[in-house]
Amino acid sequence: MDKRIIVAIDGPAGAGKSTIARRVAAKLGFVYIDTGAMYRAVALWALRQGVAFHDMHRLEQLALAADIQFTAGSSQVFLNNEDVTEAIRLPEISAAASQVSAIGSVRRALVEKQREMAAAASVVMEGRDIGTVVFPNAQVKVFLDADQSERARRRVDQSGGDLEETEREIRERDQRDRTRAESPLMQAPDATYIDTTGLTLEDVEQAILKAVRARTSNGKEVTS
Ligand code: DC
Repeated sequence: MDKRIIVAIDGPAGAGKSTIARRVAAKLGFVYIDTGAMYRAVALWALRQGVAFHDMHRLEQLALAADIQFTAGSSQVFLNNEDVTEAIRLPEISAAASQVSAIGSVRRALVEKQREMAAAASVVMEGRDIGTVVFPNAQVKVFLDADQSERARRRVDQSGGDLEETEREIRERDQRDRTRAESPLMQAPDATYIDTTGLTLEDVEQAILKAVRARTSNGKEVTS
């Protein structure tokens, strides 16, 4: 029997997905996969190559050819063997990633890579469509949310920047991510909804670990 466990964490920008997913993965000894970083890496490559965001064919080619690697136990991201951990966090890349991620063929290329990454290990994977599209059969699905102003404040605390500007940027990105035709951001019907506004990291972590325990027993999937 396949004993691999998939914990899918979805939600809007700034809901705390990365911090929480990384902690939960460390606690469980699972591999952590940040799928947003993959869209960001393709967007970075496209900007560097001067590929227009309406050039779907070239964007698909980049997504197919991109060699994206994560370093286990750290938050480093490599694109074609180059450490792009910091480069992909720039605000212009956030906006570009949101545009690139609206293209169906780019999504299909990256979803394929995401499924391959989870083929050999139990994973905590975070993004926008993990519980709905990438792994609709994930054993544990969580949808993390928080008030918009709280999400902007967290982003500014983490990465600096102007609060109002960040709030506007998050609002625009969420709107695009929720209304696109291809795999829009939405909660899977069987996902646990957690509003993290006012909750501590420990609270959220415990809630997710509880959900994982409820679905697993001694690392084996409960076959109910
Ligand atoms: O989580 P993030 O901010 O790093 O994601 C960057 C962009 O990529 C975001 O605007 C939405 C998109 N994204 C997506 O469409 N699907 C995913 N699974 C992950 C991210």
